[in-house]
Amino acid sequence: MDDEERLAHPEEIPLEQELERTLRPRSLTAFVGQPVLREQLEIFIEAAISRGEPLDHVLLAGPPGLGKTTLANIIAQEMGVNIVTTSGPALERKGDMAAILTHLQQGDVLFIDEIHRLNRSIEEILYPAMEDFEIDIVIGQGPSARTIRLELPHFTLIGATTRSGLITTPLRDRFGFSHRLDYYSMEDLGRIVVRSAEILAVVIDEEGAQALALRSRGTPRIANRLLKRVRDYAQVRHEGRITGTIALEALRLFEVDDEGLDRVDREILNLILHKFDGGPVGLSTLAVAIGEEADTIEDVYEPFLLQRGFLMRTPRGRVLTRLGYEHCGVQAPVGVQPAPPDTLFN
Ligand SMILES: Nc1ncnc2c1ncn2[C@@H]1O[C@H](COP(=O)(O)OP(=O)(O)OP(=O)(O)O)[C@@H](O)[C@H]1O
Ligand SMILES: [Mg+2]
Repeated sequence: MDDEERLAHPEEIPLEQELERTLRPRSLTAFVGQPVLREQLEIFIEAAISRGEPLDHVLLAGPPGLGKTTLANIIAQEMGVNIVTTSGPALERKGDMAAILTHLQQGDVLFIDEIHRLNRSIEEILYPAMEDFEIDIVIGQGPSARTIRLELPHFTLIGATTRSGLITTPLRDRFGFSHRLDYYSMEDLGRIVVRSAEILAVVIDEEGAQALALRSRGTPRIANRLLKRVRDYAQVRHEGRITGTIALEALRLFEVDDEGLDRVDREILNLILHKFDGGPVGLSTLAVAIGEEADTIEDVYEPFLLQRGFLMRTPRGRVLTRLGYEHCGVQAPVGVQPAPPDTLFN
């Protein structure tokens, strides 16, 4: 699948990365939505600052594009400390982790993205580092090897994960604060679109913003990407201003449907419907049929389809719900489950 074709794809091509940086809110006040989390963080940060202590370790979980990386940066910013960023798969050897830890300054934020993908032996270095701010380093080899203990500055670990179920209990227990980010409401997405449009100096009216918000699958990153594509369209085909009608025309051209599903999402639903008779179908079988990694389906595509109630997970595999059938334009056979209650759009 070509990245350009996949509006919701999390893999960032450089230009998209640049765009993400420009649009990323830099303070808690500029961060739209997630009111509970925002209030908790405000108190948590203010208390730590007034005691003059580093912040306790923070775990942020939730589907891609909801603001985990953004929040990690905001937390460091609000605490007035440096942030050092790495990710689970980037750390290959224990020495990599030790080197990062020993170079931290008092109070610094160490942000580990995709923390569920840390290799186990590296994760074990984190346990004493998080709890007692020390690590044991083995020097030399064989009989002459010895262990020395190094004191670390008091730092704050912020872990982000799209798969909180894969975080081991010992690691999870060492976070003083953890939160799962939810999909955003239509209203908040509308505000994000308007805010981003201002930053990009794009004129968009309320219907235009609404049209994009409705099709952003609860996800700020997608809202921003849709805005960018629609901006291109409005520039080339119209005078640049985005109205409701222009937004809809553009989204149709980019094959984003009324629910915000794109071609791959619809392909998943249609495959289950036509090739697997509505399911159940196992994740790996589905992945092969689509030509995507099972992990990508599980992390990127599926969460929204599940949340929106088009798909259900059963012990025997994924099945289409009645809503899923209807979205494919097919009447569901008798006995097909209706959707689980929809929590996103009410
Ligand atoms: N609450 C928000 N208000 C405004 N913009 C937001 C908000 N949350 C996220 N964004 C925008 O969405 C983009 C994606 O957010 P971010 O990179 O923080 O997501 P993430 O959860 O780290 O995703 P991933 O799991 O893929 O790493 C950001 O560039 C930012 O512009
Ligand atoms: Mg991120």
